[in-house]
Amino acid sequence: MISMSREDIIRDAHKYLILNIVDEVTPLVIAEAKGSVIKDIDGREFIDAFSGISVMNIGHCRDEIISAVIEQAKKYMHVSSYYYYVPILVELAKRLAQIMPSKRLTKTFFGNSGAEANECAIKLARKYTRRHEIIALTPSFHGRTLGTLSITGQGGRKRGMGPLLSGVIFVPAPYCYRAPFKVDDEEECGKIYVELARDIIRETSTSQISGFIVEPVIGEPGIIPLPKNYLKIFREEILDRYGGLLIIDEVQTGFGRTGKMFGVEHYDVEPDIMTMAKALGGGLPLGACTTSEEIASAFEPGDHFSTFGGNPVSAAAAIRNIEIILREELHKKAEEKGAYVMKRLHELKDRYKIIGDVRGKGLMIGVELVKDSSKTPAREEAKKIMRKMFDEGVLVGIGGVYGNVIRIQPPLVIEYEKLDKILEAFERSIRNL
Ligand SMILES: Cc1ncc(COP(=O)(O)O)c(C=O)c1O
Repeated sequence: MISMSREDIIRDAHKYLILNIVDEVTPLVIAEAKGSVIKDIDGREFIDAFSGISVMNIGHCRDEIISAVIEQAKKYMHVSSYYYYVPILVELAKRLAQIMPSKRLTKTFFGNSGAEANECAIKLARKYTRRHEIIALTPSFHGRTLGTLSITGQGGRKRGMGPLLSGVIFVPAPYCYRAPFKVDDEEECGKIYVELARDIIRETSTSQISGFIVEPVIGEPGIIPLPKNYLKIFREEILDRYGGLLIIDEVQTGFGRTGKMFGVEHYDVEPDIMTMAKALGGGLPLGACTTSEEIASAFEPGDHFSTFGGNPVSAAAAIRNIEIILREELHKKAEEKGAYVMKRLHELKDRYKIIGDVRGKGLMIGVELVKDSSKTPAREEAKKIMRKMFDEGVLVGIGGVYGNVIRIQPPLVIEYEKLDKILEAFERSIRNL
């Protein structure tokens, strides 16, 4: 039992944790969390509109998850992935195969995080195709290991970290709001960005393309949903022509977040490899990289491994987590609640010039703040809004390549009354500027 005062915890955090990796530390000392509410050690309640970065889709501390964890922990907590016949893990892999957006995706490797899931995907794509180039978007975010940092399209995250992997071909993300040319609609935007990608690939690739990694809704760089037609024409115009697998990073978009079980279901394509983490474990660390039998067979003994990957306790939580999402149809709830929030945000956009763009899918929503009609990013203002919302008892995230996007990603079980409170706090924070 830790019984320290707020001041002691903050002082020791700065003394013993490496905290200089963040801009500023949110002054929240957490005592407990339930559903969509986080309580601090002084008993103050906060509405959680960020879900621990899109993890707690089913809400905090669900009794069913706690009992699944206890039940498994009493049997055994760890045996290492050296012993593969772990019943709970086999069961989880089977459940995942049942909910995949493609019947071909039946085989899973389990790790502990999103970055590990993407590492597995990169290695698998290289082994399967026997080619090494990876196409990725800029901006994008796929993790912080050196491999995943290499395929992350954001220079700021890589400063002082090189040399990174070579053979990464970055093409511009279809960030239509900031397109440097005039686009009339989403479809046209999607088409132009595929053409741009095709030209860059034609000119820079050495015809060694192993895959294209992409999030259906680009999360951390500012909640940017891909245009409806983008993945389909990317597949037809580029991957079918140059070769390479379609790797869908569902680390943030998976498990109901975008209004479908998986974000890619909004698009008319089937992934070759899909990576998952965050909400998969219902709050416990777990990552997964799922693919077809044929692609999986490219790995040979010794190619890949993880001591903790597929921890049985996390697996037990993940099975229960998937059951809850399916039973409570949380993906559908995310769609309905997301539509409600988006409508209100669009109304606010008409009233406040600082709101440049409102976008997202389901309960993965971004509000891009700008200073003027030239769309100058309102970075400081975003920070002020986040701080003011904190003072009002609402936790939101900040994202975007310019740090000017307010991220609203609450647990999918959040009540409408709490969504109203988030929106009201947001509006007051804007007025307060
Ligand atoms: C799309 C995406 N991929 C990968 C990652 C990396 O996941 P992790 O932090 O679990 O390694 C993240 C984390 O935010 C992410 O948003």
